[in-house]
Amino acid sequence: MTGPQPEPAMWLPTAASSQAADVDGLFHFILYLCTFFFVLIMALMVYFVVKYRRKSATQKTSAVSGSHKLEIAWSVIPTLLLVVIFFWGFKGWMNLNVPPEDALEIRVLGKKWSWEFDYPYNGVSGAGELVVPVNQPVKLIMSSQDVIHSFYVPAFRIKRDVVPNRYSVLWFNPTKKGTFDVFCTEYCGTSHSQMLSRVKVVSRDDFKKWAETGGGMDGLSPVELGKKLFSSKGCVACHSITDDRMAKPGPALGKRFGKMEEMSTGEMVKVDENYVRESIRNSTAKIVKGYAPVMPPFPASSVSDRQLNALIDYIKSLK
Ligand code: CUA
Repeated sequence: MTGPQPEPAMWLPTAASSQAADVDGLFHFILYLCTFFFVLIMALMVYFVVKYRRKSATQKTSAVSGSHKLEIAWSVIPTLLLVVIFFWGFKGWMNLNVPPEDALEIRVLGKKWSWEFDYPYNGVSGAGELVVPVNQPVKLIMSSQDVIHSFYVPAFRIKRDVVPNRYSVLWFNPTKKGTFDVFCTEYCGTSHSQMLSRVKVVSRDDFKKWAETGGGMDGLSPVELGKKLFSSKGCVACHSITDDRMAKPGPALGKRFGKMEEMSTGEMVKVDENYVRESIRNSTAKIVKGYAPVMPPFPASSVSDRQLNALIDYIKSLK
């Protein structure tokens, strides 16, 4: 991957959105508050255990009748702290849930096991990475093609479930240029942990250029385009590009093109253009021996003919 990488964080990940400071502030407030009272209570407990230990067999404990002052203090102080936490949290929650009017709208499609981004007002569709201009509020309108996924960008402190048959909305305002990780945080099947993408925050000019070239897909050679699609369409989650058959859950694609492959029916098939095309469009038509028929089909609405050709060229190049 190109572009500057965020520094590895010992503590919280880089805070790269306008909402992150508020989320981190509340998180730290609650953390330090709990730490303070934990240490205080533990120290007092140890102190009292030692101070009021039984010193002789005949010693009697003095009777305690109660203390109004103490009781009021331990009721009122935590209540006030709770009210502070509630309103701070509520304010932040409202802010996270109400996208600004001028937000750039992007559609997010989650599917087993990749993310796809469409820019209805910028003429880009099917991008495998989220590219956004810095200091521009972005509204994500998200849905899933199959099962429940969850869209999570740690650097922006945003996360929300992506559900089939409905839209969920998330927004952020990126304040730092750079490349940030996108994770799926809802267990969604065998390659859930491979359902990764990136957010690239770039300058306004770079964003314009990126959108004008169809999301960076123009001007690439077919093999380069195929390589990009191999990762953006999620092929990479299940297919190794080496010839190590054990590396990933699907058939390894390295050094396969032009060879013979045994199918689950016992039939021997040559791995050629038509075989690869059928395996993408109608993925369960022929299953390689020893593998399960779990790959989703990729119709023309999902992988265009041009993209399909590029993928074939890329697989051919894996020598
Ligand atoms: Cu999608 Cu986990």
